[in-house]
This record gives sequence, structure tokens and C-alpha cells, in this order.
Amino acid sequence: MIPETAPKEDVYVASAKFSKNALVPSFEKYKEMYMKSIENPDEFWGDIAKDFFWKSKHSGDFLSYNFDVTKGEIFVKFMEGATTNICYNLLDRNVHEKNLGNKVAFYWEGNEPGDELTVTYRELLQKVCQFANVLKSQGVKKGDRVSIYMPMAVELVVAMLACVRIGAVHSIVFAGFSAESLCERIMDSECSLLITADGFYRGDKLINLKLLADDALQKCKDKGFTVRKCIMLKHLSKEIEEGSQSPPAKRSCPDLQQEGQTGRVKKRRPVPQLPWNPEVDLCWHTLVKGASDECEPEWCDSEDPLFILYTSGSTGKPKGVLHTVSGYMLYAATTFKLVFDYQPDDVYWCTADIGWITGHSYITYGPLANGATSVLFEGLPTYPDVGRMWEIVDKYHVTKFYTAPTAIRLLMKYGTEPVQKHKRDSLKVLGTVGEPINPEAWQWYYNVVGEKRCPIVDTFWQTETGGHVLTPLPAATPMKPGSATFPFFGVVPAVLNESGEELEGPSEGYLVFKQPWPGIMRTVYGNQQRFETTYFKKFPGYYVTGDGCRRDKDGYYWITGRIDDMLNVSGHLLSTAEVESALVEHEFVAEAAVVGRPHPVKGESLYCFVTLTEGVSFCRTLEVELRNLVREKIGAIATPDYIQNAPGLPKTRSGKIMRRVLRKIANGERELGDISTLADSSVVEQLFQNRSCTA
Ligand code: WTA
Repeated sequence: MIPETAPKEDVYVASAKFSKNALVPSFEKYKEMYMKSIENPDEFWGDIAKDFFWKSKHSGDFLSYNFDVTKGEIFVKFMEGATTNICYNLLDRNVHEKNLGNKVAFYWEGNEPGDELTVTYRELLQKVCQFANVLKSQGVKKGDRVSIYMPMAVELVVAMLACVRIGAVHSIVFAGFSAESLCERIMDSECSLLITADGFYRGDKLINLKLLADDALQKCKDKGFTVRKCIMLKHLSKEIEEGSQSPPAKRSCPDLQQEGQTGRVKKRRPVPQLPWNPEVDLCWHTLVKGASDECEPEWCDSEDPLFILYTSGSTGKPKGVLHTVSGYMLYAATTFKLVFDYQPDDVYWCTADIGWITGHSYITYGPLANGATSVLFEGLPTYPDVGRMWEIVDKYHVTKFYTAPTAIRLLMKYGTEPVQKHKRDSLKVLGTVGEPINPEAWQWYYNVVGEKRCPIVDTFWQTETGGHVLTPLPAATPMKPGSATFPFFGVVPAVLNESGEELEGPSEGYLVFKQPWPGIMRTVYGNQQRFETTYFKKFPGYYVTGDGCRRDKDGYYWITGRIDDMLNVSGHLLSTAEVESALVEHEFVAEAAVVGRPHPVKGESLYCFVTLTEGVSFCRTLEVELRNLVREKIGAIATPDYIQNAPGLPKTRSGKIMRRVLRKIANGERELGDISTLADSSVVEQLFQNRSCTA
């Protein structure tokens, strides 16, 4: 499965100097560890678990599972019966056992250059304990779900770890999602409490988060679900405390005029008007002020729920991916350590938002479990200029840098000058995640950003996998630009054909996994049936990723993209069905079909075909309305790039929309392949004629 020896041709390898001190220094070592991890997972993960704190040891099997739907319910259990607390392992263990209390956990860098904050492990522990006590005082108990809708502030980490400390289950909703999306997620997981902030700036744009949160809570109420309390952080508070030029008139957050503890946004900007509902709204700062900074952690079972994170589903309704305590902790910690070759003096920076799984595993859980120092960045790569990333790299002497191919492609457009203006000599390892990286972007990242000095780890994984599953290890794996290379420890990939047969050697087909690793999701929250149908039904005995892949002659895996109705826009998964159902909510839209069209920066963009109701004609105003509708229903990431009038859609005789044909039309490709099953071929010509003029 893994080749005997590493290939020597057409590959890039780490320097001998880098490999010398690396944790996994050679391909041989990787292979040896890999074999142990799959032949004897108990011992492999058991050894790793020794470094963590356990209140009580596991009883019974280290690992038990069933991956085969024909044999009964699907389940995965790691170290069942052991009790621990992740927050304790991330903070108390580092402060009290590893003597890292004064080590910096986060360098927070705001949207505005110059806005910064440093938080040590000891300070983080205090803040988390205080806020955990606040949550307790608000009646939050073990197992309760708490929704978090916040900007990239240190308090976002505090809020999530405070939940973890008391055994509550966090459900973080990316702050770029709309009120409607937030409402849907709050209701699905029945959250009793929402934590949010007044707002934040993305570049020059103010995001009025509290207004969106209020809107979401109202929507929940209209649908018969009430969230008890909403805690609001004053993130834009500095202006308020220093007296902004135009203080908003109707604010009445009780503590708003007091000395703030968190004021850190220096630049004077207009602050939002804050509606305040005293029955529901609570001010973070007021609550924290009286709270003790000691809080005994709640000891949880390994298989107790840890968090829920929603990801797009092909039916259009997002799936609440559920992760549990111990397996996720071991996996996030180990992948972080070995994939980035973590060294104690590293300054690590992952540019993702904590609202996505990358931020969960590789800003909060993985780095803190290792006692690492990270940069937590609130802003944009292009604000105030396109050199911002490299300016931050130099400012904090970042050694390990993790970003998305879409960000690399965006920066590539501006040439090498903004990169070369900065030194970047601290960088040692570069990483990518979220979508396949095209070899051209890989080369640019390698040659220009890393100056041929830094190995690139192209990490393939999913919200569902909890951590990296296919990835190079920087000193051990010879790299091929565009390939996620080989499996991480404990992961056994296979390539299947349509009939579910395992293909050997060089081949192309469905990427599946044959056995569980600690970080794999445990269920879809509240819907075990959907969990089994989505991931285990098509090929019994395997976890189906939904991605296609190719394996080359050297055994390297190359992800070829989604093979379900899912699109990847700027590294974010979207389901076509979700966008379609937003479009058809417009009274003038009878039917909609959405496909992906390759995009030079975003990877894919949304191309929407809409069939209008009788008597309505397509016009620019309608196009704008539809675009806004999708933004409002889902969020700005789902904004369509193209909307085309489609008087008819290409369908099979049984009425199924032929998306394959629509993809060709969207791309302007006349070579349609076999269209013998098409019911009415004249619609195709009409659609070519009508192609969106901007396309
Ligand atoms: C895609 C993000 C190719 C893939 C961590 C997967 C990738 C989906 C890579 C999961 C990569 C992620 N190469 N494709 N290195 N990383 N993907 O759940 O299609 O937001 O199934 O998790 O992103 O997206 P998700």
C-alpha cells in the first residue's frame, strides 16, 4: 500500500538540515510508525495517550467499531470509560504540569494593523475558568448545547473552552453566515444559549453581528423555539470607551459606558447601534467581572459529545457533525504535532477562521494541546494591503504557516513584489488545506513564499475526519505538487470503482477509508440515520468521503474533487441543493439548478440556471434580487457569480436534471458527450444562446 522506498524522481524533498531534528525524520520512519498504527492501533494511540491527563482509565476495549451497515448500527468508540477534560489538558496541564504558564498561547492581531493583544497560557486559563463560571451561573450544564457566533477574538477561544470545561457542547457558527443559517443551526441542535459580539470589521466593512444574532433569535422564536439568553461581547468597544465621534443614541447594554477590560480596537470607526432586550441579552463584561477564576473541570467520558459543527449536506440541509472527547483530542494533537513538525520554539499561524473545522482543530485544539504559541488573526490577507500576511509573518517570526489554496491564488495575482518586500526568513514549514492545490499555485508557494526552503504539507481532510487524513510529513514524505501524498497514522485509504471493488495499483475512483482513526465523527447530531446513509451506505464496510481520487504509480493520492452535489468555493463546501432551495424561494423562480464553474481564485464559483414562472421576464433587477436572496439565506460565501435565465433545463426522460450538461454549458464547452438520454435536446441550444453575458 505504502511503497517500500520513497520515489526519487519528480519529487521535492526537505533539506538534510531540516530533517535532522524533525520528529519523523525519514520515509522509513514514517512507514514503520504507519504499520504499527494500523496493525496495533491500541498500542500506537495508547502510547500517545500517556502524555495526557486522565481522571480515570478506560475500561474494556481501547477501540471498538462497526463500519458495515449490513451488520448493524455504525459506531466508533475510542477509550470508552476513560474520563478526562480537554480544557484541562489544553490549559491546566500546560500551566501546572509543563510549566508553560508564562508562555504565549496567542498573539492576537486585529483587522487594523497595530491592534494586538498577547495572551499567555495562565491568562487564558483564568479567562476560561471565569467564563465557565459565568456559563454555570446561567444554568448551562453538562451536555447542553451552546451556540457561538463570534469574530476571531481571543474570547471566541475562551467561549469554546469554557463550554468544554463544564462539559457543554459548543456549536460554532462562522460569523460570515446569515441570520437564517444561524437560526437553522441553533434550532437543529436546540441550543439554550447564544454567545455573540457587537460586531467586527472585515477590512473596511462593518459586520453588525448583534443585529444578525437578534434577527436569528427572532426567526427561531417565529418557528416556536426560544433561546434563553444571549451573551454579547463588546468587541468594538474601544471607540465607545474613548467616546466615539458620534456615539450611538440608543445603546443600553448595561456596562457599556464603564471602563472596558477588552478595549483593543484602536482606530476610530463608527460603532453599530445596539438594540438591547433586557430579558434575553447579557453583557459579557458585566458577567465576567464578578466571576471566580477557578473552576473545577467536569470530568467527561471519552465518548461524551465535545462539539457539533455544521457542514453542507447534499440534500441542502446542513449536517451537524458530532465529535467526541478523547479520540478527537488525541487526533487533533497528534496531527498538529507531526504534520507541522512542532518544535517548542515555533510560532505557528493558521489563517483559517475558527468557525470552520480547520480553526477548531488547528487554531484551538491541536496547538493548545501541544503548548504551542499561535497567531490569531482577525483580518484579511489583502487589508490594508496585499503584503499583510508577510508583514505578520515577520512581526511574530512565524515558523509554521497554514493557509488555503484560494488565498495563495489571490496573492499570486499581485506578483512577487509584495511578498519579497518582507523577509519571511523565519518560515520553516508551509501548509495548505481546503481544496486541491493546483501545481502552479504550489510552485509559487514553494518558490516565492518559502524560497525553496520550506516543505509544503498539502493536508487533505474534512469536517467529518476531525484532522488530517492524507498528508505529507514535512521531513519524511517526498512532495509532489498537487498531491496530498499518503495516509496519516491510523488511516487506511482505498480506491473503489462504481461497483465497490477495491482497485489495486495506479487507479482512479471513490476515495474511502477502511477503518476508523480516533478523530472520525461519531454521528450526525440527532440523525444517526443520515450519518449512516451519507457515509456508509453506498459501499458497506467503508467510510465514503464523497471525494474522487487518483492513485499514481508511486502510490501517491491525488484528490480529483467532489463526486457528489457539492461545490468547493474558496475552500468552503456548499451544497448545490442548498443554493437551489434559496433561489426557488423567490416568487418568480419556478425551478433552479446550480453547478460549479472553475474560477481562477476561488477554485469554483456558483453558476445558477433559473427557470422563471409563466409571464415573468428575466432582467437585471431580478438578477440582483436573486443574488441578494442567496446571501441573505446562506451568507456571502454562497453569492452566485452567474445567474442565467433558463426557459427549460436539460432533463432525462425520467425528469432528472442533467447537471453534467449544465456544467458544460456554464463553461461554454460544446463537447457534450452522450446526451441520448436527454428528453428535449432543443433546450440545450437555447441555453448556449442565453449564456450569462458575464460568463
Ligand atoms: C476538500 C476542510 C483536496 C475535499 C478541512 C473535502 C481538499 C472537503 C483538501 C472538506 C486538500 C480539503 N486537497 N481537497 N488538501 N482539503 N479538501 O469539511 O473536497 O470544509 O471533502 O473540511 O474539502 O471540506 P471541509
